[in-house]
Amino acid sequence: MHAIVLPQPGPEPDVLQYREIPDPVPGPEDLLVRVRATALNRADLMQRRGGYPQPGRKPEFEILGLEFAGEVIAAGPAVEGFAPGDRVMGLLAGGGYAEQVTIHHRLAMHVPANLSWIEAGATPEVYITAHDALLQAGLVAGERVLVHAAGSGVGVAAIQVAKALGASLVIGTAGSDEKLAAAAELGLDVGINYRDGDFAPAVASATGGRGVDVILDVIGAEYLDRNLKALALRGRITFVGLMGGATTPVNLGLILSKRLQLRGTVLRARPLEEKAIAVRAFEKSVLPHIASGRVKVVVDSVYPLARAADAHRHMEANANFGKIVLEC
Ligand SMILES: NC(=O)c1ccc[n+]([C@@H]2O[C@H](COP(=O)([O-])OP(=O)(O)OC[C@H]3O[C@@H](n4cnc5c(N)ncnc54)[C@H](OP(=O)(O)O)[C@@H]3O)[C@@H](O)[C@H]2O)c1
Repeated sequence: MHAIVLPQPGPEPDVLQYREIPDPVPGPEDLLVRVRATALNRADLMQRRGGYPQPGRKPEFEILGLEFAGEVIAAGPAVEGFAPGDRVMGLLAGGGYAEQVTIHHRLAMHVPANLSWIEAGATPEVYITAHDALLQAGLVAGERVLVHAAGSGVGVAAIQVAKALGASLVIGTAGSDEKLAAAAELGLDVGINYRDGDFAPAVASATGGRGVDVILDVIGAEYLDRNLKALALRGRITFVGLMGGATTPVNLGLILSKRLQLRGTVLRARPLEEKAIAVRAFEKSVLPHIASGRVKVVVDSVYPLARAADAHRHMEANANFGKIVLEC
C-alpha cells in the first residue's frame, strides 16, 4: 500500500514522505480497512515535529493519522458486529495517513448513510473528543458553555455537541470574524474575536455577569487567568489542548471562592477499554444527530493523501474552519 511515512521528525512538512510500504496485518480482534479518507488533527503537527510520539512500541514505519473512514476488507475471527464490505470509521493511535489500516473492532463504528467518505473520515477524533470533554465537565441541559478556538475541528464539534446536549448559551472565541460568522451558522450564540480584546469581560456581559458553567479549553496557560474569571460559581473547565502553553501562575483564590473544578484529558493514550467507552457514548448520544443532519461535519478542505505536507501547511497557517481531510 501507499502511506505517508515520517522517517525523521522535523519542523517543515516536507519530512512527510509518500511511499510504498507493506500492508498492515490485522490481529484476531481487528478489522482490516481500505481507507477512503483520513483527516488532520493538531496533534499530527506536534507528532511530525517529534514532540508527540505514538504511545507503545515504536512501529517500523511511523505514520501519522488518528482517524479514518473506509470499507472493511477483512475481519479477524474474534470480530463481532462487522463484516467485509461494511462502511466503517474509527479512532486510531496512529497509522491513518495510509491506504489501509487495522483497527480493533471495539473502536470502529458503522458510518451513517448520509455521510460521504470525506465527512466520515473527518468525524471520529474531534466529535468523540468534544463529546467526552463536555461529559467530563458534567454539562447538563440549561447550562452556559464557552468554547475556545471555535473554528478549530474540536471547536466546531463542541459548539454543536453542546447545543445537542441542551446548553442554553454557547459562546465561542476565535481569531477572525469570518470564523465566528461561520460558527454562528452552526449554532454559536455569541462570538468573541480574541484580537479585539480580553474575552472575560465579553463573557460577563453575554451572561448578565454570571459567567459560564463549562469551558472547553484548548489554549491552556495563556487563557487560564481569564478562564477562571469567565467561570460562574461551581464552573468547570476541561482542558483538551495547550496551544497557548502549559505553565502559568494560577489564582487559587478564584478556584476556592467560586468552587471551580479544573480537569485535563487526552484520548489517544487511553487504554482500549476506556476508549471503547468514549466511542460507544458518542455513538449513542451524538451519532444519531449526525445521521439526522442536525449536527454537521464541517470540512474545510480536501487534499489527496500524497499532498499531506500541503495539508499540514494549511493547518499551520491557522487557516482552516473545521476539518482538513486527506482523500485516498
Ligand atoms: N485531548 C485530546 O484528546 C484532543 C483530541 C483532539 C484535539 N485536541 C486538541 O484540541 C486542539 C484543537 O485541535 P484541532 O485539530 O481541532 O485544531 P485546528 O483545527 O488546527 O484549529 C486550531 C485553531 O486554534 C486557533 N489557535 C491556534 N493557536 C492558538 C493560540 N495560541 N491561541 C488562540 N487560538 C489559537 C487557530 O484559530 P484562530 O484563527 O481562531 O486563532 C487555529 O486555527 C489542539 O490543542 C489539539 O491538540 C485534543
